[in-house]
Amino acid sequence: MKKKVLEDLHVSGKKVLVRVDFNVPIKDGSITDDNRIIQALPTIKFLIEEDAKVILFSHLGRIKTEEDKKTNSLEVVSKRLAELLDMEVTFVPVTRGEKLEKAINKMKPKDIVMVENTRFEDLDGKKESKNDPELGEYWASLGDVFVNDAFGTAHRSHASNVGIASRLETAAGYLMEKEIRYIGSTVENPEKPFVAILGGAKVSDKIGVIENLLKISDKVLIGGGMAYTFMKSLGYNIGDSIVENDKLDLAKSLIEKAKGKLILPVDLVVADEFSEDANFRVIKYKDIKPYETGMDIGPKTVKQFKKHLKGAKTVVWNGPVGVFEFENFAKGTKAVCEILANMKNAKTIIGGGDSAAAAIQMGYRDDFTHISTGGGASLQFLEGKELPGIESIDDSVDCGCDDSNCDC
Ligand code: 3PG
Repeated sequence: MKKKVLEDLHVSGKKVLVRVDFNVPIKDGSITDDNRIIQALPTIKFLIEEDAKVILFSHLGRIKTEEDKKTNSLEVVSKRLAELLDMEVTFVPVTRGEKLEKAINKMKPKDIVMVENTRFEDLDGKKESKNDPELGEYWASLGDVFVNDAFGTAHRSHASNVGIASRLETAAGYLMEKEIRYIGSTVENPEKPFVAILGGAKVSDKIGVIENLLKISDKVLIGGGMAYTFMKSLGYNIGDSIVENDKLDLAKSLIEKAKGKLILPVDLVVADEFSEDANFRVIKYKDIKPYETGMDIGPKTVKQFKKHLKGAKTVVWNGPVGVFEFENFAKGTKAVCEILANMKNAKTIIGGGDSAAAAIQMGYRDDFTHISTGGGASLQFLEGKELPGIESIDDSVDCGCDDSNCDC
């Protein structure tokens, strides 16, 4: 079902509530990765150009104590947004009440207000996270229409996404639209050949994703920590590598179900301890010593991945294939970036999380068809699940005319 988009709304002079996902990493009070803010700019700029009054909502972190409020205020995010837009952003340090209502009432077209962290409402009975009806009703009463651009939060059914959407006319923002177009349509109807690359530490985090990708793709290439659980399930020695012993049967059954589609590394970079400056060597997967830890895929595996990726029309990648945070063990992940960056005839999609962070950090931000801003949301989308944040956006109305450029 197609969803309403920004162009379907009349926003000029209106109070437009916009849910963004500005849940960005912050260290010592500074934002360490502003990608999610950058990705939301097209929607905000469109609304400004259309003379809307833009009221932004987001969560940041998880709020369980009063102390959490001190380190999770959105003020620092509002300042970064103001810099990126080169415009004033009025930050309101509350989530409800007179101060917020006054700030909104005095807005003029093209003004931007940013509301404090929606999860501050969680201290009082988890109102945001439990989609409290009174809170959804209150926030919806502050605006005329709603734009949901928070794909990263789409797997949550919270007051600031689903709660508002169920009470106001709602459209998808440009980022949400892009995520649906690339990840959603790939899961529904991928152009073949379709190859998936999966990494990350654990099989248990991605069981649903592996199962779904095995159904819809032609090959699933496995790297990262999860490879060792698969390898051990086949009886291979994995030394002191990370493993989930309670998932060995599951891993074995996935390999059996895959009927040759699931490809494991043939060589590894192993270290004598899990540290940045550990001694390391490249080995055939069978030659690992009992005290050694697998840290990365080796060069032969990179070559093998490249062979399997050749000619693919769609590639989805989720999870780094090595411990990319340590320079000596980042080569495999960088090689995957390089291979995909050069696949000019394929749709290349990074399904969010650490692999997205790795690709951006390694300088490949503009070399993929799409880098998802979702973590948990992308995983659930790749599992083929419906996401409440997307479901709650209004369906688009078919005008019934034949003109593909129609503006009915
Ligand atoms: C994310 O970073 O995955 C989203 O912002 C959702 O955050 P949450 O897992 O705290 O709900």
